[in-house]
Amino acid sequence: MNIIRVADEAQLSEKAAAMIAAQIRKKPDAVLGLATGSTPVGTYQELIRKYEAGKLDFSGVTTFNLDEYVGAGPEDPHGYMYFMRKQLFDHVNIRKEQTNIPDGCCTDAAAECEQYDRRIRAAGGIDLQLLGIGANGHIAFNEPAEQLIYGTHKEQLTASTIAANARFFRDKSEVPTQALSMGIGIIMEAEQILLLGGAGKQRIIEQMLASEITTRLPASLLKLHRAVTIIYIAQ
Ligand code: PGA
Repeated sequence: MNIIRVADEAQLSEKAAAMIAAQIRKKPDAVLGLATGSTPVGTYQELIRKYEAGKLDFSGVTTFNLDEYVGAGPEDPHGYMYFMRKQLFDHVNIRKEQTNIPDGCCTDAAAECEQYDRRIRAAGGIDLQLLGIGANGHIAFNEPAEQLIYGTHKEQLTASTIAANARFFRDKSEVPTQALSMGIGIIMEAEQILLLGGAGKQRIIEQMLASEITTRLPASLLKLHRAVTIIYIAQ
């Protein structure tokens, strides 16, 4: 594991964006795994700046997002496709048909999830997967449990995740309780993984680094991957 400690959000975003930009420059048709949440927002802003400066071309890039709330369609302001458009896609020259996210409004979740994994593999697999981490150690919405699921699947969110996500909603009762989430196995299939720990995540990152590998702390499974970089804010 390559572990980079930084002092603040600006450094985190700058280093993460530099790594993503290097991947796109090395392979203009790169397949990126992308994340939502507060953590990657600054990184996306840096990527937009590079694009606007003429230093980055997204026209060949394909993306697969980690997860989507059950019930959220692409126009839902609380949904993650909407988030991605506002935070990144609408501001760069990515081709919209090359941006992928599980369909939170599908009628057959099992079929949708299976097809999502097939689409990732048909695209050649993910070159670089960006991840945040939950305060409970989840990655994507793979919540701590006795067992984790390999492929993309429907996940029941824990009370702590629902409470953490409530900040984006008017009322906690509006927070979706289920999501379609890339599974831990699909995440581990990525060539390279970049885990970001923004403000408030030092404790869980250091707990994960000290921990044995356990499904009770899903991010600890990343220790089995050969190419993980962790960038986190350490005080
Ligand atoms: P955050 O979420 O970036 O909003 O902190 C990360 C996560 O819960 O995986």
